[in-house]
Amino acid sequence: MVEPSGSSFTGVDRLGSRPRSRDMTSENTARLLPGAPVAEAVLADVRERVAKLKARGVQPSLATILVGDDDASAGYIRIKQKQAAELGFASPHEHLSGDVTQADLLKVIAGFNDDKNVHGVLIQYPIPAHLDYDAALQTLDPDKDVDGMHPLNMGRLAVGLPGPLPCTPAGIEALLAHHGIEISGREVVILGRGATLGRPLAMLLAQKRPTANAAVTVVHTGVKDWPRYTQRAEILIAAAGVPGIIQPEHVKPGATVIGAGVRYEGRRLLPDVDESCAEVAGAITPRVGGVGPTTVAMLFRNAVVAAERANP
Ligand SMILES: NC(=O)c1ccc[n+]([C@@H]2O[C@H](COP(=O)([O-])OP(=O)(O)OC[C@H]3O[C@@H](n4cnc5c(N)ncnc54)[C@H](OP(=O)(O)O)[C@@H]3O)[C@@H](O)[C@H]2O)c1
Repeated sequence: MVEPSGSSFTGVDRLGSRPRSRDMTSENTARLLPGAPVAEAVLADVRERVAKLKARGVQPSLATILVGDDDASAGYIRIKQKQAAELGFASPHEHLSGDVTQADLLKVIAGFNDDKNVHGVLIQYPIPAHLDYDAALQTLDPDKDVDGMHPLNMGRLAVGLPGPLPCTPAGIEALLAHHGIEISGREVVILGRGATLGRPLAMLLAQKRPTANAAVTVVHTGVKDWPRYTQRAEILIAAAGVPGIIQPEHVKPGATVIGAGVRYEGRRLLPDVDESCAEVAGAITPRVGGVGPTTVAMLFRNAVVAAERANP
């Protein structure tokens, strides 16, 4: 997912009213944790690794598959292809018509699986409703799964084996590390246990590594008194997709708040974390330009790692 960049959370003014203008600042504003510098650092590393592969005669390649004519999806693919080219990847592309059969979609995936020159494959989500996305994902060679969402890669994450990492969780860990937010030994509460975000993120941040190693709690609709948990979190990560679900009273003063859950109404982005949380938090992701850019960067990191693994 690509977010527009530019605006940020603002805090309260000295009289206690909450300014909404993006240009107003306040002593009470939490430190912002933008994703762009994190993405730049990750992509600089990717660029170097691509250059090293090319110097060995390996052309890293990230294939994309788009099904149908949804404007937003086509736009996301164009942005990713442009970025792939800038980073030095080859980017073969298959644009399938919106009425393609499941069998034909699987054939295209199988073709990329068999192509030794293709190291990563991205199936742009969503695909038309008559197609089975999970079945398509399961057809993909797990080692070429740059989204890190194949069930085998979820299993690798669960047991700590190397493999492509789910992009948004990996991006959140990188964001925290880049901004010097200590995770190890601290209490992390994640609101949401979805398969793309909350669940893999919990596995990632509980791993025994210096930039993880946290005490992780996951809350969801089954935990009616979830604020009791979020209120004690040193790091609170919103991954529900319910606009405004996190309000200041859910945040421990001084805590770090990461807003990953969003809902789109048309092109309007509605985040889980209400802007007013910046009045209470010590550090917080901006309303836009927080987690999003890191997610996209991790896609390219997975692609270059896949190319390296295929060419040891
Ligand atoms: N920024 C990015 O790049 C990026 C990338 C991926 C996803 N996302 C966003 O992250 C969000 C989560 O994605 P997902 O695929 O994991 O979604 P999902 O599968 O729908 O999971 C949502 C989770 O939130 C919980 N939840 C929903 N409403 C709740 C409530 N009122 N109280 C407590 N818990 C509640 C659900 O609980 P139950 O399990 O009990 O139903 C579920 O665990 C979405 O907004 C998605 O757009 C962002």
